[in-house]
Formats: sequence, structure tokens, C-alpha cells
Amino acid sequence: MKIFLDTANVAQIREAARWGVLDGVTTNPTLVAKEKRPFHETVREICGIVAGPVSAETVSLEAGAIVAEGRVLAKIHDRVVVKVPIMKEGLAATRALAAEGIRVNMTLVFSPAQVLLAAKAGAAFISPFVGRLDDAGQQGMEMVEQSLEILRNFDFAAELIVASVRSTLHVAQAAALGAHIATVPFAVLEQMTRHPLTDVGIEKFLADARSIPSAGA
Ligand code: E4P
Repeated sequence: MKIFLDTANVAQIREAARWGVLDGVTTNPTLVAKEKRPFHETVREICGIVAGPVSAETVSLEAGAIVAEGRVLAKIHDRVVVKVPIMKEGLAATRALAAEGIRVNMTLVFSPAQVLLAAKAGAAFISPFVGRLDDAGQQGMEMVEQSLEILRNFDFAAELIVASVRSTLHVAQAAALGAHIATVPFAVLEQMTRHPLTDVGIEKFLADARSIPSAGA
């Protein structure tokens, strides 16, 4: 499973890239707004750091305007994937952008039925939001399971990005289900590197290493 970072913070992206485990980045207007920097400049810088897809989201509500916005975003860098919220206009725009060879990440997806429509419209990536579904009292991971089954049943080329990830458990469950990608906040990725028993084990090995007599002593 590929791991994307769900952030627009370049320092976090540089750090995760340094660990050698980063396959891409997803942003959204909320994440970009937090950085208090111009949108296109931020996306361009991220594309220079990560060697994979970088999602940049459209904010128009009508198909023609979404397509126009998507074309501009796609010109920033060839790694840019245009993120489009699922809705009737978004589906139409996805079909048009895909026909031009522009990859779309269909976002704000909350049901397997929406996954089917996004795949049919030609989305290259589809982002079900598991955390927000869990927050609403539903089983986010059940939706992921059914969505993967739908994509496999009909050999859709779309890759599922498990999004709105809240914990390392979400990431492990997504991987166990065979999801193509999980996009994770930096804090969750950081947590994935750790385990209390790893820390205890390192301390013990270091203490024991110090007690080994050096050669010639
Ligand atoms: C996905 O691409 C979104 O940017 C993101 O995962 C949303 O997560 P949130 O529910 O934590 O805002």
C-alpha cells in the first residue's frame, strides 16, 4: 500500500520524504489555509519534494468552471492530480478532465455508490473519508471494504485513497483490506514509526553494548 501525507506543510513533507516512505501528498483547502501561503506556490514547492502524485483541490461548483480550474492546477506540475468533490457537476468535470489526460482525485466520498460513480466518470483516484464516517457513527472501514470489492468486480483502474485517517489502526486496517493508498496526517505517520517495546528494546541493547569490553581492554 502506498502512503501519502495529508498536509500542505512542506517541512512535514520534507521530513517524511527523508524517511524514505512517502509516495505522494494530498492537500485540501483547509490544509492549505493553515499554511498562510499562496496556493499555487505551495503546490509547486510540494511537487519539487515528493516523487509522486500531489492532489490540489478545486473549489468551483459548476462543471465548466471546475474543468477550467483543473486545467490551471494541472499546469503547475505534471505531478499534480486535480481533486474534485463528488457531486453531479464534479462527475461531469471528472469525465472531461480525464478525457484530456488530467488525473482526478474524487474527494469527499462517503458511500460505495459514490465510489462506483467516481470510477465510472474516470477518476484516477477516489478518496473515501473513513474518520468522518466513524465520527458520524458509521463504520468507515466497512465502506472501504465494499468500495474495494466494487473496483475489483469491474476491473476499474481507479486507486482507492483511504482518507480522513485518524489513527495507525486505520492505516493497518486499510492495508489489510488491500487499499491502494492511505493518506495520513503527519502525526499518524510519526506514530507508525514507534512502539513502546521498540524504545525499551533499543535502550536495553545500548546499555548492553556499553557493558561489552572493548578489544584490548
Ligand atoms: C483527503 O484527501 C482529505 O484531505 C483528508 O483526509 C480529510 O481529512 P479530515 O477528515 O481529517 O479533515
